[in-house]
Amino acid sequence: MSARRHRVNVEDWRQAARRALPRLAYEYVDGAAGDEVCLASNLDDLRRLTLLPRTLLDIEKIDPSVEVLGRRWPVPMAVAPLGLTGLIRPGGDVLMARAAARSGWVHTLSTASNSRLEAVRQAARDVTPEAEQWMQLYVMHDRAVAEHIMRRARSAGFRVLVLTVDVPVGGNRERDLRNDFSLPFRPTLRMALDMARRPGWLWRLARGGAPNFANLSETEDAQASAQAQAVMLSRAMSRKLLWSDLQWLRRHWDGPLVVKGLLHPDDAARAVHEGFDGVVVSNHGGRQLDAAPSSIAMLPAIVDAVAGRVPVFVDGGFRRGADVLKALACGARAVFVGRAPLYGLAAGGEAGAAAVMALLQAELVQAMILAGVSRAEAVTAELLGPRRGS
Ligand code: FNR
Repeated sequence: MSARRHRVNVEDWRQAARRALPRLAYEYVDGAAGDEVCLASNLDDLRRLTLLPRTLLDIEKIDPSVEVLGRRWPVPMAVAPLGLTGLIRPGGDVLMARAAARSGWVHTLSTASNSRLEAVRQAARDVTPEAEQWMQLYVMHDRAVAEHIMRRARSAGFRVLVLTVDVPVGGNRERDLRNDFSLPFRPTLRMALDMARRPGWLWRLARGGAPNFANLSETEDAQASAQAQAVMLSRAMSRKLLWSDLQWLRRHWDGPLVVKGLLHPDDAARAVHEGFDGVVVSNHGGRQLDAAPSSIAMLPAIVDAVAGRVPVFVDGGFRRGADVLKALACGARAVFVGRAPLYGLAAGGEAGAAAVMALLQAELVQAMILAGVSRAEAVTAELLGPRRGS
């Protein structure tokens, strides 16, 4: 308990996750593509932005809530879709969904989840019937798989569909390659030694079972097919997904549709033109094209291109509440956070993930007070100060 009390920021939780997980699992979460320059620039570019505080304003009451697609979010933060959380903790998706529901954060469930979407939806509802969840969609070669997921997600009560478009092929995750990371697990001696150093993780895995892409199986008891597993792990998504396929999506999904993984302003403008209800500026946490720019660097131009027609979200590198305020000042409606709550999940299960969310939320409120901002929705680019040098 006292160790947890001393985890005062996301970096502390990251270090705790590193101690809790075998290298293979930690590097799956922490790593990115190629030289990991994109990952680093997500963090650096956020750090370089400054907030220019205003003083002697009425900051008695702080309101960090924002309106998103007809709902009021208590805070402008949501959990990004995260695949294979079962490698971090058995039942990881359920634990994350519960933590998000407890914290008032929207939870986005990945197509590559290790629990079936119906079970994850129920888990969030058990915490509070109001819990809002979004469903992330990967479209593989076999369109029937996506159609099936959309049908199930709609009837389970997921409100918004998030189409991820930045994985036409897997990124070059060199740490995973070095760790011989593949599914189903083919343990090497090195891997076994690595896992033996983390008895808590190993014990949970032995009890909970090795993760599989449960969401892709037709029924509750059927294992997802080996083929679907392989496709998911190799991230062999459809390379034939085109703007014109929006019509196909619309036939299968009648709720709000958000596109995730755009970096070019023209693509964002096109997304609005084609009828998407929101865009997530993202480079997949630096896990795809290492040469891509940081998400925060592209955010202002995308906000300009979208011109207020749909909400713009951003993810990549958010580790501080003040970072979230910076994104709002650059025009984002809200921020998605990926690794941070995963570090919490790794080190402390559901309570750990919830602790990270509470931490980010407390940091955001404090940053708002210090910056002289009483309402998240009133934040404008005027809050931005001079950029720090390198
Ligand atoms: C991801 N991300 C991701 N995105 C997605 O659309 N579907 C997915 O299944 C996954 N899986 C996934 C697993 C892990 C371990 C990570 C770290 C990331 C990308 C994720 O949604 C988000 O874009 C980034 O994580 C945001 O960057 P930060 O917050 O991790 O820096």
